[in-house]
Amino acid sequence: MLYRAPGRINFIGEHTDYNDGYVLPFAIDKHIYLEIEKSDKFTFISKNSNQNISLNNLQKTRTWADYIIGVILEIEKKVGKIPPFSFQIHSNLPIGAGLSSSAALEIVSAFAINDILNLNLSIEELALIGWNAENKFVGLNCGIMDQYASALSKENHALFIDTYTKKYELIPLNLKNYNFYIINSGVKHELGNSEYNIRRKQCEDALKLLNKKSFREVNYEDLKKLNGIHYKRVKHVLDENRRVLNTIEALKNDKIELIGEFLFESHESLKELYEVSCEEIDYIIDNLKNKVTGARIVGGGFGGSVLVLSKDDELENIIYNLKDNYLRKYSIELEHFKVISSNGAEKVII
Ligand code: GLA
Repeated sequence: MLYRAPGRINFIGEHTDYNDGYVLPFAIDKHIYLEIEKSDKFTFISKNSNQNISLNNLQKTRTWADYIIGVILEIEKKVGKIPPFSFQIHSNLPIGAGLSSSAALEIVSAFAINDILNLNLSIEELALIGWNAENKFVGLNCGIMDQYASALSKENHALFIDTYTKKYELIPLNLKNYNFYIINSGVKHELGNSEYNIRRKQCEDALKLLNKKSFREVNYEDLKKLNGIHYKRVKHVLDENRRVLNTIEALKNDKIELIGEFLFESHESLKELYEVSCEEIDYIIDNLKNKVTGARIVGGGFGGSVLVLSKDDELENIIYNLKDNYLRKYSIELEHFKVISSNGAEKVII
């Protein structure tokens, strides 16, 4: 049986999902495909990397298979032991580009196991199973955005998630003659995961200084009580939450140019206040200013991709020049593609 789950881009609302904030991701039409079959032992096969991992006991492998193993163990906590399967994956989703390939792998596994064993777990439960696998087994303390987006998205919609209540709403994505593009910087800083966890810790420390339990109780007045790193991190979260709500409002009123401004503002804040950008990404953004409608770093940061909002051919007119200059400066070939929205995880009917 064949299943697939998509990667995601985050329209806006970066580094807010583990701070009880708002996010607005949507799934893109790049997927991880999973073929699942009953087997005499657990087998994990990647057609992309030609790897074949076979296990009698489920344990950490320190490979991509851990995302699936983490999901199996989470499902077993709910329903008891499950029989062994062979999991064969292939993907057209770039890995390490800030497009959530790990969440896609978790969600496609959870979705497939649920379906093939008729477990009747809800799609929200499957999203949380993926999230728990990532946090408890793989060890990245991420928020719920990526797993929710990969599980719950609908074509032509963005998924507004209030990560405090875990409630979500589909917002129609009507961009007229504007399009989203991804530019993959080709940079993946090793520091990414540890810096991510450091940002989380800094936000938790700021909450303690303010004597608050949740960011939901924090307001602009509280900023007066903070300084240095804590001030910067909290200001980003407050501003970014406001930008998510303003973006939804602008979307509903067809004010796409205004959304572009929010994207540039978001980038500035991620660069200066949250400090999760990097030289190569800033170079790309600087070269896009005044030439496209909006752009910002997307995902966890420290490399990965730039999300671009382009009116008509704005981006296509300048991208080849940018690619040449980038190659000369960093010896990396930039990749870019138009972003098309997609449904969340599904069975592929052949
Ligand atoms: C990564 C995490 C998400 C989110 C983003 C930053 O993609 O997996 O949960 O925190 O970073 O917005």
